[in-house]
Amino acid sequence: MTETIVIANQKGGVGKTTTTINLAAGLATLGYPTLMIDTDPQGNATSGLGFDKVEFSPNIYNVVVELTPLEKTIRATTVPNLCLVGANSDLLGSEIALATAIGRESRLRGALSSIRDKFRFVIIDCPPSLGILTINALNAADKVIIPIQGEYYALEGLAQFVETINRVRDTLNPKLALEGGLLTMFDTRMLLSNQVKDEVSKFFGPSLFNTVIPRNIRLAEAPGFGQSIFQYDPKSRGGQAYLALAQEFLSRRDLKPQTVVDAPQTELAVEPQTTGE
Ligand SMILES: Nc1ncnc2c1ncn2[C@@H]1O[C@H](COP(=O)(O)OP(=O)(O)OP(=O)(O)O)[C@@H](O)[C@H]1O
Ligand SMILES: [Mg+2]
Repeated sequence: MTETIVIANQKGGVGKTTTTINLAAGLATLGYPTLMIDTDPQGNATSGLGFDKVEFSPNIYNVVVELTPLEKTIRATTVPNLCLVGANSDLLGSEIALATAIGRESRLRGALSSIRDKFRFVIIDCPPSLGILTINALNAADKVIIPIQGEYYALEGLAQFVETINRVRDTLNPKLALEGGLLTMFDTRMLLSNQVKDEVSKFFGPSLFNTVIPRNIRLAEAPGFGQSIFQYDPKSRGGQAYLALAQEFLSRRDLKPQTVVDAPQTELAVEPQTTGE
C-alpha cells in the first residue's frame, strides 16, 4: 500500500522543503522505499538533494501538463531507498497551460495511480501558494502535514489553508485527512516560541507532532551540499529531530524502523549497533 503525504502551507519559508527532504530521507533510511515529488517552481527540493534542477528533464511539469508517464521522470538519489521527481521554473507556466485543461485538478493523482505500490510512501513538497499545483497535490494525497514556524504570525492564514483542505476533501478527494501540524525552526530559549507552541497545540490538538524541529544551522547548510541531514550531519540537533519525526510518523502507523541499509545510516543508531569486537 502506498501512502501519499503532502507537506503544505501557503505561507512561505516555514520549513516545507526542509521537512519534505528530511522526512522522506528519514523514512527511506529507516527502510521504507520512498518517492519524493517536488511541485514547486523554485525547485528547492530538487536542488536540495543535489540535482541540477535546470537539467532535470522530464520533470513534474511534463507529467501534469503534458501527461508524460510519471515512471519516465523518477530518478534514484544518493539516499538509499529514496527516489525523486524533480521540478524547476518550467512549472511557472503550468497555471496558464492548465487553465482550460480537462481534469486539471487531477493530473498528479492520475499520474500517481500508475506507480501504486512501487513505493511505501510518496512525500510531496508544495509551493507557498494555493494555486493549481497545491490543489493537485492535495487531490493526490492521503494526508497533509502543515509545517508551522515558531514565530509571531505562525497561525496567520492557517484557518484559510485548513478551509482549502476541507474544500478539496468535500469536492475532489474524500479520503484526504489532516495528519497534523509540525513546529519548525523552534527556539526554546524564546518566550515567544513557547507562546506560539501553546497556540499551535490548541489549534491542532493531538494531531500536532510531539517532535519539534529546532532552529539548527546544519539543517540550513545541508541543501547547499545537495544532502539530506542524514548524510550531512546526522548527529546534529536537526538530524536527531528529523529522525525522531520519521520515527513518530512510523509509530502513528504502528510501523517499525526496518533494517538500516547503508554505511552512513549506521550512525543513526536506530538499530542496536555491533561494536566490531
Ligand atoms: N529547522 C531549521 N533550522 C534552521 N534553518 C532552517 C530550518 N528549517 C528550514 N530552514 C531554512 O529556512 C529557509 C526556509 O526553509 P524551507 O525552504 O524549508 O521553507 P519552505 O516553506 O519550503 O519555503 P518556500 O515557501 O519558499 O518553499 C531555508 O533557507 C532553510 O534552509
Ligand atoms: Mg519550499
